[in-house]
Amino acid sequence: MDEGHTEADRTEPSHAPMPGAESLAEPLRSRWSPSIFDDTHRLGPEDVETLLHAAQWAPSWGNSQPWAFVVAERGSPSHDLLVPHLSRGNAGWVPRASVVFVTAVQVAPDPAGEGGASPGHAFHDLGQAAAHLTLQARSMGLHAHQFAGFDREAVHAALGVPVWFEVMTGIAVGVRGNPEDVPERDRGREQKVRRRRELSEFVWGPSWGEPWGAPGRAE
Ligand SMILES: Cc1cc2nc3c(=O)[nH]c(=O)nc-3n(C[C@H](O)[C@H](O)[C@H](O)COP(=O)(O)O)c2cc1C
Repeated sequence: MDEGHTEADRTEPSHAPMPGAESLAEPLRSRWSPSIFDDTHRLGPEDVETLLHAAQWAPSWGNSQPWAFVVAERGSPSHDLLVPHLSRGNAGWVPRASVVFVTAVQVAPDPAGEGGASPGHAFHDLGQAAAHLTLQARSMGLHAHQFAGFDREAVHAALGVPVWFEVMTGIAVGVRGNPEDVPERDRGREQKVRRRRELSEFVWGPSWGEPWGAPGRAE
């Protein structure tokens, strides 16, 4: 898995793994969300297809597969439709990625009465498909950065998404670029230390609120 990594990846080891994540398997261990993409890198159609297969093979409620993706490659018509609707914070870095997958989820039956049976699970399932795509990207030496900061209604309309789907997020995928090539503001985004809540704050044992203790773990 190492051979696909860029020089920038090798010289920036501090983002992952963070303390506590060293025992995770790859590609979980080295995944993080960069905001500096190489805007000269292009992803070949085979690689794009492999990423989509990762999403396709995610599990889902009743195998309902309620997800959909619009592939917005940098410079493509769908990319041009997306970019004007990015939030101010995302407008600098998202357009530099090689490709953005705009995600959507089916929340109601289509006109033929198909799908949309369990919208609550559909959100769960789309998230899982997005995670699979994101991890597949990492295993291919790529980086992915998911984002929700854009005008979802405007993108829904611009991309012609049917009303029984909701546009949810974007997944920007590419290789990490040179920090020197981006404005200070975008460079600063990556300086934040990656933190997580402790397991003791969200994992319960005998009942809700009662701490879970890993077997053999010292108190
Ligand atoms: C649903 C969702 C929405 C997000 N929206 C944004 C966003 O609009 N802009 C952004 O820079 N990052 C966004 N992120 C990325 C998170 O901020 C990032 O995953 C989190 O800070 C953890 O960092 P890490 O992925 O490097 O571990 C989003 C992530 C998810 C899953």
